[in-house]
Amino acid sequence: MTTPGTAAENALITLREPGSAAAEAYRTLRTNILFSSLDRPLRTLLVTSSAPDEGKSSTLANLAVTMAQAEQRVLLVDCDLRRPSLHTLFGLPNERGLTSAILAQEDGSLPIQSTVVPGLQLLTSGPLPPRPTDLLGSRRMGALIEQLSASADIVLFDTPPVVAVTDAAVLAPRVDGVLLVLHAGQTRRDRAREARRLLEKVKAHIVGVVLNGARLERGYTY
Ligand SMILES: Nc1ncnc2c1ncn2[C@@H]1O[C@H](COP(=O)(O)OP(=O)(O)OP(=O)(O)O)[C@@H](O)[C@H]1O
Ligand SMILES: [Mg+2]
Repeated sequence: MTTPGTAAENALITLREPGSAAAEAYRTLRTNILFSSLDRPLRTLLVTSSAPDEGKSSTLANLAVTMAQAEQRVLLVDCDLRRPSLHTLFGLPNERGLTSAILAQEDGSLPIQSTVVPGLQLLTSGPLPPRPTDLLGSRRMGALIEQLSASADIVLFDTPPVVAVTDAAVLAPRVDGVLLVLHAGQTRRDRAREARRLLEKVKAHIVGVVLNGARLERGYTY
């Protein structure tokens, strides 16, 4: 079995190769997000994409590491209740998590876990429910978002692709900003437009688009 430390260090380029062009690109992303929200502080940020496998979870996890390295108290929340992956990326158990907290009858302590990165905490998905959208759209989830944002400088939410299921669209109006991840050479133009349309329809505040997998001069990287 791998330890949490090595799992995260292997999976996340910001930990494995902090000096790489990719890690530098995440730091630029962090700065851009910071400057995009000078007028309106961004306390909750959601990431989604148009289709599966465009790199939402890796982008979010690396962004979270970069923010924590800049001394922010960061909380990552896995709201992808269909294909959760943040617990695997950080090598942590997922017996309890977001779904346990939503379904809990009374306010107890939340099953938030520390990660190998100082200042970065994770609320994993928890056991997968039969109807994820209902849970994410529940009043209890709204209260949880409030509670979570009071406990960190920034809360980052991972979600499923917005064109495939409505989960991200249900959450988007309840957070301060949305980051849309597209994959260079993989995302179809019409799908990207559809993702934007769906987010605009629910009045989401799209703070930016990340083009993942773009070929830079120094190689295949962010
Ligand atoms: N720029 C990149 N270069 C190389 N590999 C990448 C890049 N971005 C993502 N990957 C890899 O692609 C796979 C999918 O990435 P990831 O899990 O982040 O996507 P996702 O959009 O969250 O997928 P899902 O739709 O399942 O939630 C992972 O194995 C990840 O390591
Ligand atoms: Mg994912």
